[in-house]
Amino acid sequence: MSELSVKHLLGIKYLQEKDIQLIFETADHFKEVINRSIKKVPSLRDITIANIFFENSTRTKLSFELAEKRLSADVINFSAGQSSVKKGETLIDTVNNILSMKVDMVVMRHPNPGAGIFLAKHVNASIINAGDGAHEHPTQALLDSYSIREKLGDVANKKVVIVGDILHSRVALSNIFALKLQGAEVKVCGPRTLLPKYVESLGVEVETDLRKALNWCDVANMLRIQNERLDISYFPTTREYTQQYGVNSRLLDSLNKKIVIMHPGPINRGVEITSDVADSGQSIILDQVENGVAIRMAVIYLLASKIKQ
Ligand code: CP
Repeated sequence: MSELSVKHLLGIKYLQEKDIQLIFETADHFKEVINRSIKKVPSLRDITIANIFFENSTRTKLSFELAEKRLSADVINFSAGQSSVKKGETLIDTVNNILSMKVDMVVMRHPNPGAGIFLAKHVNASIINAGDGAHEHPTQALLDSYSIREKLGDVANKKVVIVGDILHSRVALSNIFALKLQGAEVKVCGPRTLLPKYVESLGVEVETDLRKALNWCDVANMLRIQNERLDISYFPTTREYTQQYGVNSRLLDSLNKKIVIMHPGPINRGVEITSDVADSGQSIILDQVENGVAIRMAVIYLLASKIKQ
């Protein structure tokens, strides 16, 4: 297979397993490129990409911009906070104005679930979802699986536990779709109040005891509490949450094996993960960030080749 089955990347839900393998094979090539002394290829000199962010971001925004520049695309950046959205302009008007400047692709982060799907129906450009509310964050899940593949050789048959605020996490949902598509076994772990009632229908098991979950898994993906999406209290206090669902070196050292620790960032050090774990040899958190550039180069390159057809 040499092309993606989709025109946009709106969610992992819309991908096939062969799409993921194609993205990984393409990312392998770009990872080699970004480790050369000249980290750039001329592939997308004829493509213009707009990064439009209606929500804060550090990793995703910088990673997309770097990926686009490494591919030699022209790049424009838009932050809603400094734009005419503040004067009442709609999403579609905003994007159509950007597109009239001859933009080919839009990378969008938005607080509303489904914003990218809505946009893809109304504008004539390739859309990449860089995180839409509590719905999906597909490039994060791709770089997470790619990092597991790099560390453990494969994703199929690996045991992965996703720990924390599953209810409000787009990273959790996209990871569940991606991991299941590749044949991994997946559990979610957290307080019952932060686990969606439907989660088992996605083919994952629930484990509320963190020690049991960690003793079972090969990989633990630690998520932060999405405080910006919490309208009520879901657990008594942060201290109690940390006692039950935070990972620390004492807990890791007491397990019957060495597991891989992941985190999509931003980390709340001392809440879901202690600094000694985040910065330890078991953690691949910064590898995830590094792999994010190669994965985003692969996604952009593959979607751009569909625009050019
Ligand atoms: N992982 C992630 O999406 O981080 P940012 O919010 O900083 O982009």
